[in-house]
Amino acid sequence: MSNRLHKEFLGKRIQSPLVLASGIMGISYSGMLKAIENGAGMVTTKSFTLEKRKGHDGPCVAEFSGGFINSMGLSNSGLKEELYEVEDFKAHSDAPVILSVFGTTAEEFITLTTIVNSSKADFLELNLSCPNVADEFGTPLSASKEIVSEIIKSVKLYAKIPVIAKLSPNTYNVGEIAIAAVDAGADALNLINTLGPGMIIDINARKPVILNKYGGISGPAIKPIAIKLVYEISRKVKIPILGTGGLISGNDVIEMLMAGASATGIGTGVYYRGIEVFNLINMEILQFMDEHEIENVNDIKPI
Ligand code: DHB
Repeated sequence: MSNRLHKEFLGKRIQSPLVLASGIMGISYSGMLKAIENGAGMVTTKSFTLEKRKGHDGPCVAEFSGGFINSMGLSNSGLKEELYEVEDFKAHSDAPVILSVFGTTAEEFITLTTIVNSSKADFLELNLSCPNVADEFGTPLSASKEIVSEIIKSVKLYAKIPVIAKLSPNTYNVGEIAIAAVDAGADALNLINTLGPGMIIDINARKPVILNKYGGISGPAIKPIAIKLVYEISRKVKIPILGTGGLISGNDVIEMLMAGASATGIGTGVYYRGIEVFNLINMEILQFMDEHEIENVNDIKPI
């Protein structure tokens, strides 16, 4: 990997600004490892919950002209059971790991945090924004700045590693919520989770394509929203932002860095271009840098 792409994120060196987004390569450590072997700088686990969850029955994922919708329903075996995936990953790679957790109350997030403290994860990501379980748990937590603040303050009392708050685009005041997260002590923000939920109807079958009817929208359709929010919020906060949302090419990543992100999440890009997407994007970034006589990726400054 060219050291022209090396970055620092919350004090850790990453070989590229590209971060495997949560839930993209399934649950097992081998998927995360493949992302690193193919040029990612850091990986994120699937969001784990306190208790085992079966998730939603399929079809859970569908493509449309602007990207994908998905409603996996947080399928996982429970945080304690899944921790060995992080340990196995760490036995094979020294790339940083973001451990993503999903809870519904401050107490639950505290319990999750104490379990995370016994792991080798480098960062704790609080998924405050999954749009696919509203029927069970109600509106995603990151719709409320009071709840975001309460959860982050609680977690920060216990967390031994830096805390990243992953926020939802599905509210009109994401800026205020981001500031509440920062004031509560978040070490970084991840902007954004999926948009929506949305729906796709199979007109021949006369029924929704996704069995659970609705799903979070990812892919190129949501990129301008992610860019706008990172641009707006990075001007107001001093902590690093992981910019995620519809980035599938080197130009997309450069756009996100120019919006103000410190590193960039890649999710749906893996579906479009395969696991090689990380190496392909790295090459495209280097090509842009050569064309513009930019020596180091850190010299791609926010506009
Ligand atoms: C799921 C979807 C999300 O957007 C998310 O942040 C976490 C989990 C899911 O459906 O499993």
